[in-house]
Amino acid sequence: MLATYDLKGKTALVTGGASGIGLGAVKAFLRCGAAVAINDLATSPNLEKVVKELSDEGHKVIAAPGSVGDAQDCPRMVEKAIGELGRLDYLVNNAGTPGTRSPIPPADFERQDEAFWDLLLNVNLIGPYRCTKAAAEALKESGGAIVNTASISGFSRGGSSSVYCATKAGLINLTKEWARALAPKVRVNAIAPGAVDSAWMCRFDDIEEGDLSAIPLRRVGTPTDYGESILFLSAGADYVTGHTLVVDGGLIA
Ligand SMILES: NC(=O)c1ccc[n+]([C@@H]2O[C@H](COP(=O)([O-])OP(=O)(O)OC[C@H]3O[C@@H](n4cnc5c(N)ncnc54)[C@H](O)[C@@H]3O)[C@@H](O)[C@H]2O)c1
Repeated sequence: MLATYDLKGKTALVTGGASGIGLGAVKAFLRCGAAVAINDLATSPNLEKVVKELSDEGHKVIAAPGSVGDAQDCPRMVEKAIGELGRLDYLVNNAGTPGTRSPIPPADFERQDEAFWDLLLNVNLIGPYRCTKAAAEALKESGGAIVNTASISGFSRGGSSSVYCATKAGLINLTKEWARALAPKVRVNAIAPGAVDSAWMCRFDDIEEGDLSAIPLRRVGTPTDYGESILFLSAGADYVTGHTLVVDGGLIA
Protein backbone atom coordinates (compact mmCIF):
# COMPACT_ATOMS: atom_id res chain seq x y z
CA MET A 1 0.00 0.00 0.00
CA LEU A 2 1.34 3.45 -0.89
CA ALA A 3 1.77 5.99 1.93
CA THR A 4 0.43 9.43 1.24
CA TYR A 5 1.33 12.95 2.35
CA ASP A 6 -0.28 16.26 1.53
CA LEU A 7 2.47 17.99 -0.48
CA LYS A 8 0.37 20.68 -2.16
CA GLY A 9 2.51 23.84 -2.34
CA LYS A 10 5.74 21.86 -1.89
CA THR A 11 8.39 21.33 -4.56
CA ALA A 12 11.14 18.81 -5.32
CA LEU A 13 14.18 18.56 -7.57
CA VAL A 14 15.18 15.02 -8.56
CA THR A 15 18.49 14.46 -10.34
CA GLY A 16 18.61 11.64 -12.87
CA GLY A 17 14.82 11.84 -12.66
CA ALA A 18 13.86 10.82 -16.20
CA SER A 19 14.36 7.09 -15.60
CA GLY A 20 14.36 4.29 -13.03
CA ILE A 21 14.54 5.17 -9.33
CA GLY A 22 14.56 8.91 -10.00
CA LEU A 23 11.37 8.68 -12.05
CA GLY A 24 9.83 6.55 -9.29
CA ALA A 25 10.56 9.38 -6.84
CA VAL A 26 9.19 12.00 -9.26
CA LYS A 27 5.91 10.09 -9.55
CA ALA A 28 5.68 9.63 -5.76
CA PHE A 29 6.04 13.40 -5.17
CA LEU A 30 3.54 14.21 -7.94
CA ARG A 31 1.01 11.69 -6.56
CA CYS A 32 1.08 13.66 -3.30
CA GLY A 33 0.47 17.00 -5.04
CA ALA A 34 4.02 18.45 -5.10
CA ALA A 35 5.46 20.30 -8.11
CA VAL A 36 8.64 18.66 -9.43
CA ALA A 37 11.71 19.74 -11.39
CA ILE A 38 13.19 16.76 -13.21
CA ASN A 39 16.91 16.91 -13.86
CA ASP A 40 18.60 14.60 -16.32
CA LEU A 41 21.31 14.87 -18.95
CA ALA A 42 20.44 17.41 -21.66
CA THR A 43 21.17 14.57 -24.12
CA SER A 44 18.71 12.17 -22.44
CA PRO A 45 16.02 11.08 -24.90
CA ASN A 46 13.66 10.56 -21.94
CA LEU A 47 13.67 13.97 -20.29
CA GLU A 48 11.35 16.01 -22.55
CA LYS A 49 9.17 12.94 -23.18
CA VAL A 50 8.66 12.28 -19.46
CA VAL A 51 7.98 15.96 -18.70
CA LYS A 52 5.38 16.11 -21.49
CA GLU A 53 3.66 12.88 -20.42
CA LEU A 54 3.42 13.94 -16.77
CA SER A 55 2.31 17.49 -17.69
CA ASP A 56 -0.38 16.05 -19.96
CA GLU A 57 -1.63 14.08 -16.94
CA GLY A 58 -2.16 17.44 -15.20
CA HIS A 59 0.94 17.54 -12.98
CA LYS A 60 3.12 20.61 -12.39
CA VAL A 61 6.46 19.41 -13.70
CA ILE A 62 9.40 21.12 -15.42
CA ALA A 63 12.70 20.03 -16.95
CA ALA A 64 15.97 21.16 -15.35
CA PRO A 65 18.53 19.65 -17.75
CA GLY A 66 22.23 19.36 -17.00
CA SER A 67 24.92 17.01 -15.76
CA VAL A 68 25.63 16.64 -12.05
CA GLY A 69 29.18 16.00 -13.28
CA ASP A 70 29.44 19.62 -14.43
CA ALA A 71 30.25 22.30 -11.84
CA GLN A 72 28.40 24.99 -13.82
CA ASP A 73 25.29 22.93 -14.61
CA CYS A 74 24.46 22.14 -10.96
CA PRO A 75 23.81 25.68 -9.68
CA ARG A 76 22.06 26.45 -12.99
CA MET A 77 19.58 23.59 -12.65
CA VAL A 78 18.94 24.29 -8.97
CA GLU A 79 18.28 27.97 -9.82
CA LYS A 80 15.94 26.94 -12.64
CA ALA A 81 13.98 24.70 -10.27
CA ILE A 82 13.68 27.42 -7.61
CA GLY A 83 13.02 30.18 -10.18
CA GLU A 84 10.20 28.32 -11.95
CA LEU A 85 8.67 26.53 -8.97
CA GLY A 86 9.12 29.39 -6.49
CA ARG A 87 10.79 27.46 -3.64
CA LEU A 88 12.57 24.18 -2.91
CA ASP A 89 11.48 21.67 -0.26
CA TYR A 90 13.14 18.43 -1.34
CA LEU A 91 16.36 17.58 -3.19
CA VAL A 92 16.91 14.01 -4.35
CA ASN A 93 20.55 13.41 -5.29
CA ASN A 94 19.84 10.36 -7.41
CA ALA A 95 21.90 10.66 -10.63
CA GLY A 96 24.80 8.24 -10.79
CA THR A 97 26.84 6.12 -13.16
CA PRO A 98 28.55 2.70 -12.98
CA GLY A 99 30.82 3.75 -15.89
CA THR A 100 30.74 0.15 -17.19
CA ARG A 101 28.26 -2.15 -18.93
CA SER A 102 29.41 -5.29 -17.08
CA PRO A 103 30.74 -5.71 -13.52
CA ILE A 104 34.52 -5.27 -13.15
CA PRO A 105 36.14 -7.79 -10.76
CA PRO A 106 37.84 -6.18 -7.73
CA ALA A 107 41.25 -7.51 -8.85
CA ASP A 108 41.02 -5.86 -12.27
CA PHE A 109 43.03 -2.74 -11.43
CA GLU A 110 43.75 -2.06 -15.13
CA ARG A 111 40.13 -1.30 -16.05
CA GLN A 112 39.71 0.78 -12.89
CA ASP A 113 42.18 3.34 -14.13
CA GLU A 114 42.55 7.07 -13.41
CA ALA A 115 39.94 8.08 -16.00
CA PHE A 116 37.44 5.60 -14.51
CA TRP A 117 38.08 6.97 -11.00
CA ASP A 118 37.65 10.53 -12.27
CA LEU A 119 34.32 9.77 -13.95
CA LEU A 120 32.77 7.97 -10.98
CA LEU A 121 34.05 10.35 -8.31
CA ASN A 122 32.86 13.31 -10.38
CA VAL A 123 29.31 12.06 -11.05
CA ASN A 124 28.54 9.88 -8.00
CA LEU A 125 30.23 11.85 -5.24
CA ILE A 126 31.08 15.42 -6.28
CA GLY A 127 27.74 15.65 -8.17
CA PRO A 128 25.63 15.33 -4.99
CA TYR A 129 27.98 17.79 -3.26
CA ARG A 130 27.47 20.37 -6.02
CA CYS A 131 23.67 20.07 -5.92
CA THR A 132 23.56 20.08 -2.11
CA LYS A 133 25.74 23.20 -1.96
CA ALA A 134 23.58 24.99 -4.55
CA ALA A 135 20.30 24.02 -2.84
CA ALA A 136 21.30 24.42 0.82
CA GLU A 137 20.02 27.97 1.41
CA ALA A 138 16.65 27.35 -0.26
CA LEU A 139 16.22 24.11 1.71
CA LYS A 140 17.04 25.89 4.97
CA GLU A 141 14.41 28.50 4.15
CA SER A 142 11.74 25.86 3.52
CA GLY A 143 12.84 23.53 6.34
CA GLY A 144 13.24 20.84 3.69
CA ALA A 145 15.05 17.55 3.24
CA ILE A 146 17.62 15.81 1.07
CA VAL A 147 17.65 12.14 0.07
CA ASN A 148 20.75 10.66 -1.57
CA THR A 149 20.59 7.49 -3.66
CA ALA A 150 23.49 5.38 -2.39
CA SER A 151 23.65 1.57 -2.87
CA ILE A 152 24.02 -1.60 -0.81
CA SER A 153 27.41 -1.84 -2.54
CA GLY A 154 28.43 1.05 -0.26
CA PHE A 155 28.16 -1.41 2.66
CA SER A 156 29.24 -4.84 1.41
CA ARG A 157 28.95 -7.63 -1.20
CA GLY A 158 30.59 -5.62 -4.00
CA GLY A 159 28.91 -3.99 -6.99
CA SER A 160 29.72 -3.00 -10.55
CA SER A 161 33.31 -2.09 -9.51
CA SER A 162 35.36 -1.34 -6.40
CA VAL A 163 35.42 2.31 -7.45
CA TYR A 164 31.61 2.40 -7.63
CA CYS A 165 31.42 0.78 -4.15
CA ALA A 166 33.81 3.43 -2.82
CA THR A 167 31.71 6.29 -4.24
CA LYS A 168 28.55 4.90 -2.67
CA ALA A 169 30.31 4.29 0.68
CA GLY A 170 31.44 7.91 0.43
CA LEU A 171 27.88 9.06 -0.18
CA ILE A 172 26.66 7.13 2.87
CA ASN A 173 29.29 8.94 4.92
CA LEU A 174 28.49 12.34 3.36
CA THR A 175 24.83 11.75 4.26
CA LYS A 176 25.90 11.84 7.95
CA GLU A 177 28.22 14.81 7.39
CA TRP A 178 25.52 16.84 5.64
CA ALA A 179 22.90 15.82 8.24
CA ARG A 180 25.08 17.55 10.86
CA ALA A 181 26.00 20.41 8.51
CA LEU A 182 22.41 21.36 7.67
CA ALA A 183 20.69 20.58 10.99
CA PRO A 184 18.38 21.61 12.52
CA LYS A 185 16.61 23.09 9.49
CA VAL A 186 17.24 20.37 6.88
CA ARG A 187 17.20 16.57 7.29
CA VAL A 188 19.58 14.54 5.13
CA ASN A 189 19.11 10.80 4.56
CA ALA A 190 19.87 8.19 1.92
CA ILE A 191 18.48 4.99 0.49
CA ALA A 192 20.69 2.02 -0.34
CA PRO A 193 19.00 0.12 -3.17
CA GLY A 194 19.72 -3.49 -4.03
CA ALA A 195 18.67 -4.93 -7.40
CA VAL A 196 16.65 -2.50 -9.50
CA ASP A 197 14.28 -2.99 -12.40
CA SER A 198 15.61 -0.02 -14.40
CA ALA A 199 17.58 0.92 -17.51
CA TRP A 200 20.83 0.93 -15.47
CA MET A 201 23.84 0.70 -17.75
CA CYS A 202 25.54 -2.18 -15.88
CA ARG A 203 23.83 -5.57 -16.13
CA PHE A 204 24.30 -8.36 -13.56
CA ASP A 205 24.25 -11.91 -15.01
CA ASP A 206 22.40 -13.64 -12.14
CA ILE A 207 19.55 -11.14 -12.19
CA GLU A 208 19.44 -11.08 -16.01
CA GLU A 209 19.11 -14.87 -15.95
CA GLY A 210 16.24 -14.64 -13.47
CA ASP A 211 18.19 -16.08 -10.52
CA LEU A 212 16.63 -14.33 -7.50
CA SER A 213 17.82 -16.89 -4.92
CA ALA A 214 20.03 -14.34 -3.12
CA ILE A 215 17.08 -11.99 -2.54
CA PRO A 216 14.92 -13.19 0.38
CA LEU A 217 11.84 -11.37 -0.97
CA ARG A 218 12.47 -13.14 -4.33
CA ARG A 219 11.94 -10.15 -6.57
CA VAL A 220 13.84 -7.19 -7.99
CA GLY A 221 12.91 -3.76 -6.57
CA THR A 222 10.80 -1.54 -8.79
CA PRO A 223 11.10 2.23 -9.29
CA THR A 224 7.88 2.48 -7.25
CA ASP A 225 9.49 0.58 -4.31
CA TYR A 226 12.45 2.96 -4.31
CA GLY A 227 10.42 6.09 -5.04
CA GLU A 228 8.18 5.37 -2.06
CA SER A 229 11.16 5.03 0.29
CA ILE A 230 12.54 8.35 -1.01
CA LEU A 231 9.12 9.94 -0.44
CA PHE A 232 9.02 8.62 3.14
CA LEU A 233 12.48 9.98 3.99
CA SER A 234 11.60 13.31 2.35
CA ALA A 235 8.08 14.02 3.56
CA GLY A 236 7.71 11.71 6.58
CA ALA A 237 10.48 10.56 8.92
CA ASP A 238 10.45 13.86 10.83
CA TYR A 239 12.94 12.70 13.48
CA VAL A 240 15.28 10.82 11.14
CA THR A 241 18.47 12.39 9.81
CA GLY A 242 21.88 11.03 8.81
CA HIS A 243 20.35 7.61 8.15
CA THR A 244 20.77 5.29 5.17
CA LEU A 245 17.73 3.10 4.64
CA VAL A 246 18.56 -0.26 3.06
CA VAL A 247 15.88 -1.09 0.48
CA ASP A 248 16.97 -4.41 -1.01
CA GLY A 249 14.38 -7.14 -0.40
CA GLY A 250 16.72 -8.52 2.29
CA LEU A 251 19.73 -9.05 -0.01
CA ILE A 252 22.36 -7.99 2.56
CA ALA A 253 20.37 -9.12 5.61
N1 LIG B 1 20.34 -0.10 -10.98
C1 LIG B 1 21.02 -0.60 -9.94
O1 LIG B 1 21.39 -1.79 -9.90
C2 LIG B 1 21.32 0.29 -8.77
C3 LIG B 1 21.60 -0.29 -7.52
C4 LIG B 1 21.90 0.53 -6.44
C5 LIG B 1 21.92 1.90 -6.60
N2 LIG B 1 21.64 2.44 -7.81
C6 LIG B 1 21.70 3.90 -7.93
O2 LIG B 1 20.42 4.38 -8.27
C7 LIG B 1 20.54 5.62 -8.98
C8 LIG B 1 19.62 5.59 -10.19
O3 LIG B 1 19.89 4.47 -10.99
P1 LIG B 1 18.75 3.69 -11.81
O4 LIG B 1 18.90 2.24 -11.52
O5 LIG B 1 17.43 4.33 -11.62
O6 LIG B 1 19.32 3.90 -13.30
P2 LIG B 1 18.71 4.56 -14.64
O7 LIG B 1 19.79 4.40 -15.63
O8 LIG B 1 17.36 4.02 -14.93
O9 LIG B 1 18.56 6.11 -14.26
C9 LIG B 1 19.66 6.95 -14.06
C10 LIG B 1 19.35 8.30 -14.69
O10 LIG B 1 20.42 9.19 -14.34
C11 LIG B 1 20.76 9.95 -15.49
N3 LIG B 1 22.13 10.42 -15.38
C12 LIG B 1 23.27 9.72 -15.57
N4 LIG B 1 24.34 10.52 -15.40
C13 LIG B 1 23.86 11.75 -15.09
C14 LIG B 1 24.46 13.00 -14.82
N5 LIG B 1 25.79 13.13 -14.85
N6 LIG B 1 23.67 14.07 -14.55
C15 LIG B 1 22.32 13.95 -14.54
N7 LIG B 1 21.68 12.77 -14.80
C16 LIG B 1 22.44 11.70 -15.07
C17 LIG B 1 20.55 8.98 -16.65
O11 LIG B 1 20.41 9.66 -17.89
C18 LIG B 1 19.28 8.24 -16.22
O12 LIG B 1 18.11 8.89 -16.67
C19 LIG B 1 22.03 5.78 -9.29
O13 LIG B 1 22.59 6.70 -8.37
C20 LIG B 1 22.60 4.40 -9.03
O14 LIG B 1 23.96 4.46 -8.62
C21 LIG B 1 21.33 1.67 -8.90
